[in-house]
Amino acid sequence: MNKIKNIGVLTSGGDAPGMNAAIRAVVRAAIYYDLKVTGVLRGFEGLVHGDFIDMDRKSVANIIQRGGTILKTARSDAFRTPEGREQAYQQLLKHNIDGLIVIGGDGTFTGANLFSTEFNFPIVGLPGTIDNDLQGTDFTIGYDTAINTVINAVDKIRDTAESHDRLFIVEVMGRDSGLIALRSGIGVGAEAILIPETNIGVDGLINRLENGRKDKASKIIVVAEGDEMGAFNVGEVLKKRFPNYDIRVSILGHIQRGGRPSCMDRVLASRLGVAAVEGLVSGHSGVMIGQVNRELVFTPFDHAIKHIDAQEVSPAWLKLVEILSL
Ligand code: F6P
Repeated sequence: MNKIKNIGVLTSGGDAPGMNAAIRAVVRAAIYYDLKVTGVLRGFEGLVHGDFIDMDRKSVANIIQRGGTILKTARSDAFRTPEGREQAYQQLLKHNIDGLIVIGGDGTFTGANLFSTEFNFPIVGLPGTIDNDLQGTDFTIGYDTAINTVINAVDKIRDTAESHDRLFIVEVMGRDSGLIALRSGIGVGAEAILIPETNIGVDGLINRLENGRKDKASKIIVVAEGDEMGAFNVGEVLKKRFPNYDIRVSILGHIQRGGRPSCMDRVLASRLGVAAVEGLVSGHSGVMIGQVNRELVFTPFDHAIKHIDAQEVSPAWLKLVEILSL
């Protein structure tokens, strides 16, 4: 028996391109199945304070192509406390919301997992983060757009690097994950990639540069934000070791989080958004809906947030970088 009649939907943590497409899919699927749908503003922070809006077919019109999130997002300190979560629960009861769909990354699912266990409240998650650092889905919503933003930016950096015979160290996002760096680095033909999971280290990098091509002065080194040394320190070390190199550091920053979502992200968000509503209605809870080998898969939150380990990022990918940078 379906007891869900009113679904709350929120976006939380860092925004990601495709979140709007996911919200649209959730709202339209809820309407399709004759359910009420309530938007929660600013993620868990809005849940605690009861910042809710009624949503209908029109409130999600013309948003599939827009970056960011119309529901806004936040990282909530209040929701980290038992009192804050109790207040959030009371808000849900008061507004007759009986199921939640949360769109976000590992921080979002950590909070959702706690809340759903504490109050036995039905929650299904959608993977929305540019970092792609969740288990239970091949790709997260926003990742494809972000890596395309990175390659567009680095292609431009490559032009000026070539003109000036410069070495560029480009830092890309991923506080705990090197997956943006890895894939975009391969996509731009980087000479080396530094990521937190399996780091070749600065010695490995020096070695690579010493033994690499001498006929090509311009080089691109992609460094993940979560790398233990960080782009500026890597730059300093290389300047000392290679005084003849003309070195520049470029931090791409938050441009990676914005922009029109790619078709891949729009379609992924749309498919997962509909599946999240169907999953919630059919009794799934405490799980993230993802896509693995093109199939829809539910993964418990506590497994989804386990960090991708070094083996999965894998030396094979880094070997690829080495082979291709010859
Ligand atoms: O989690 C997504 C992410 O973009 C990370 O890659 C990055 O480290 C972080 O968010 C930045 O967060 P903020 O926008 O709060 O500085």
